[in-house]
Amino acid sequence: MVTRTVDLRSDTVTKPTEAMRAAMATAEVDDDVLGYDPTAFRLETEMAKRMGKEAALFVPSGTMGNLISVLTHCDIRGSEVILGDNCHIFIYENGGISTIGGVHPRTVKNNSDGTMDLDLIEAAIRDPSGEIVYPTTRLICLENTHANSGGKCLSAEYTDQVGELAKKHDLKLHIDGARIFNSSVALGVPVDRLVRAADSVSVCLSKGIGAPVGSVIVGSKSFIAKARRLRKTLGGGMRQVGVIAAAALVALQENVGKLESDHKKARLLADGLNEMKGLRVDPVETNIVYVEIEEGLHISAGKIVKNLEERGILVMDASPSRIRIVLHHQISASDVQYALSCFQHAVKGGQSENGN
Ligand SMILES: Cc1ncc(COP(=O)(O)O)c(C=O)c1O
Repeated sequence: MVTRTVDLRSDTVTKPTEAMRAAMATAEVDDDVLGYDPTAFRLETEMAKRMGKEAALFVPSGTMGNLISVLTHCDIRGSEVILGDNCHIFIYENGGISTIGGVHPRTVKNNSDGTMDLDLIEAAIRDPSGEIVYPTTRLICLENTHANSGGKCLSAEYTDQVGELAKKHDLKLHIDGARIFNSSVALGVPVDRLVRAADSVSVCLSKGIGAPVGSVIVGSKSFIAKARRLRKTLGGGMRQVGVIAAAALVALQENVGKLESDHKKARLLADGLNEMKGLRVDPVETNIVYVEIEEGLHISAGKIVKNLEERGILVMDASPSRIRIVLHHQISASDVQYALSCFQHAVKGGQSENGN
């Protein structure tokens, strides 16, 4: 019988805290589609300030934040966006930029640290003189932290270089900053500095910082005005949205400061797993841990995940030989120790079942 559950599937699984629920219960609200919800307005103002941008817009999800941002920058048919071949927008967002926006994606190889080589980005920019046959490059997208690379941080210097490249070719730069606060905390760089070169950033509230719902896009006033219209087109205009914005304001105030501890717990877990024979952990920079199961162990990631689940440890298999674990503020140091002891059992149990 499972007596304890430790949910490490994602940082999206957190439950609203008491403070968030209290703020939701008492939130001052009005119709946000008409532009009158005071709590949504407070959240947008706060986020714009933190990110060092002129304006902000609350949206229902990170996926919609990216979609609206890409479509706002690429509002002419035949536009092309340059983005990483292992990035969230390209892999996990249903190809929405193409199916809904008619935007053509041009992928560049993501390195293991989440970057794309500058010379490869530049080589992917279409030559404007070939407009009779080429789509027109209008946008470059980065992802910080880079989730599929294991929560790797893109530095301010790298982002600046991509920004300069974008400017040189008259392109815009968007950052999928679903976990931008994790990056800022891990690098020790203020978040506004980290995104200075970007024309827009989509920031998730419902990941590391633990709000129940939503994302915020930031950018210039004119960008946000266009984005607001597109949000309505996509059905993302919500009425008394202050109820959820109130929880997000609490998340911003209370949980950004907890990210450093999440990163510490991720390293603790990674160190423990690395000591187990047959497991190899990718370098950990923030709250995401990828574990590679060596062939010699003769047990699949799926089997380990199932064994762990029987002990109340929830993680996800990313491939037959890879497991993804994500830390968040509702995981304690004792949960990490418990998870490590369950891993030990799960790996050993699987081996004995296989006769190893
Ligand atoms: C890097 C990144 N970008 C965007 C998203 C999309 O966010 P949402 O699930 O809120 O649509 C995610 C979600 O996991 C993500 O990890």
